[in-house]
Amino acid sequence: MKLKLSVIGCGYLGATHAACMSSLGFTVVGVDTDANKVAMLANGELPFYEPELDALLAQEIKTGRLSFTTDFSAVQDADVHFICVGTPQSSNSLAADLTYVNSAVTQLAPYLKAGAIVVGKSTVPVGTADALREQLSLSAPQADLAWNPEFLREGFAIEDTLRPNRLVVGVTNDRAESVLKEVYEPLLSAGVPWIRADLPTAELVKVAANSFLATKISFINAMAEVCEAAGGDVTVLAQAIGYDPRIGNKFLQAGIGFGGGCLPKDIRAFMARAEELGAMQALEFLREVDAINLRARQRVIDVVREELGEDLTKFRIAILGTTFKPDSDDVRDSPALDIAVQLRAAGASVVVHDPKGIEPARKRFPNLEYAQDLTVSIKDSNLLMHLTEWKEYRAIDPSSISHLVKDKIIIDGRNLLDRQLWRAAGWKFRALGRTD
Ligand code: UGA
Repeated sequence: MKLKLSVIGCGYLGATHAACMSSLGFTVVGVDTDANKVAMLANGELPFYEPELDALLAQEIKTGRLSFTTDFSAVQDADVHFICVGTPQSSNSLAADLTYVNSAVTQLAPYLKAGAIVVGKSTVPVGTADALREQLSLSAPQADLAWNPEFLREGFAIEDTLRPNRLVVGVTNDRAESVLKEVYEPLLSAGVPWIRADLPTAELVKVAANSFLATKISFINAMAEVCEAAGGDVTVLAQAIGYDPRIGNKFLQAGIGFGGGCLPKDIRAFMARAEELGAMQALEFLREVDAINLRARQRVIDVVREELGEDLTKFRIAILGTTFKPDSDDVRDSPALDIAVQLRAAGASVVVHDPKGIEPARKRFPNLEYAQDLTVSIKDSNLLMHLTEWKEYRAIDPSSISHLVKDKIIIDGRNLLDRQLWRAAGWKFRALGRTD
């Protein structure tokens, strides 16, 4: 008999996991406390944007294997329960807020059958799994707990779930490992590496991976600062060091830095946890990683002031991109949106364009001006800023928009536009980390 699965928390991670597990042939029930979200998902509609996931969700709902509900009792037949709720940054500290994880396990406990396994996928501070295991040993001693961190990237959610570059499982016994191997059997037979770890190591793998990625981005943004001071070009530098396979050319794109719902809050939560553990000295460098990252947002605003002067009140700035990265509608801790808000606060008239992120951005910052149409957004602007690297922005022909703007100045905050092309069309082209 095929295992039955439940997924608790149907946001980005949970909805993707539920649809992907259903596509492997499992019966999956997704539970979320947000009735609107559940109604949409049950109807085969995705409450956020992720390439190809809408089609997969609709297809899996039709098979009858995948369902969504707000009712926790619907999970009582399930053998494996994946916890996919959010762990945002606390409102009053750097630490992760574990309210949703704790409440998911508490609400699940009464419905766990004998031998059920609760599998955490959310990103949590090390030690959380041990504490939850202890909690379950009192509330549901018939069940077990394991940790299986998720490494999916927004924009590649299906790919990263069904063809991940590794599977990591934190377990305390062989049975939990063999049940998880049964769940992931199709991935394992396709050759995905399997790493068995203890609970703290499994939790740490996730934050270590995100800390490494954040460090790599801040490293190249630090090099951008040095290039600006020394008259160098960070894009050439990145290309050159990236050829060394020990360094690699990924995550060396200098610009306005990292954002999103994961990297920024994960490095902060990691520092907060290390402090509690008395190991803060080991992660002192992450403070600098965070500081370099936030400085990149200020540096691009400095370039705006170099071009327009200190008083921005007379100028109209068109911002291309508001999501934290392309192929996503996520604006959580988006550098692009933060920069737009700061320029607006400095008195500039700011108009923001994005292929997918306008409505989510409007919910957070209703007072910014938004334009659905690219032409409308750039009309009469004194300065154009390329802040999220959607491919449609790279397809812009600068000569075809020259007549729309007041001044032909562009700042490339992502170092991805064709500088020659823009300059040939008569534009002043500025970027971070290159003085030329
Ligand atoms: C990140 C990790 O890459 C995933 O492995 C992890 O599972 C996920 O967090 C998570 O913890 O859930 P994601 O937040 O989707 O995934 O985005 P990334 O692709 O890592 O990009 C993060 C930020 O870094 C973006 O703002 C992007 O623009 C920026 N970035 C990325 C750069 O500024 N330069 C680069 O070279 C690469």
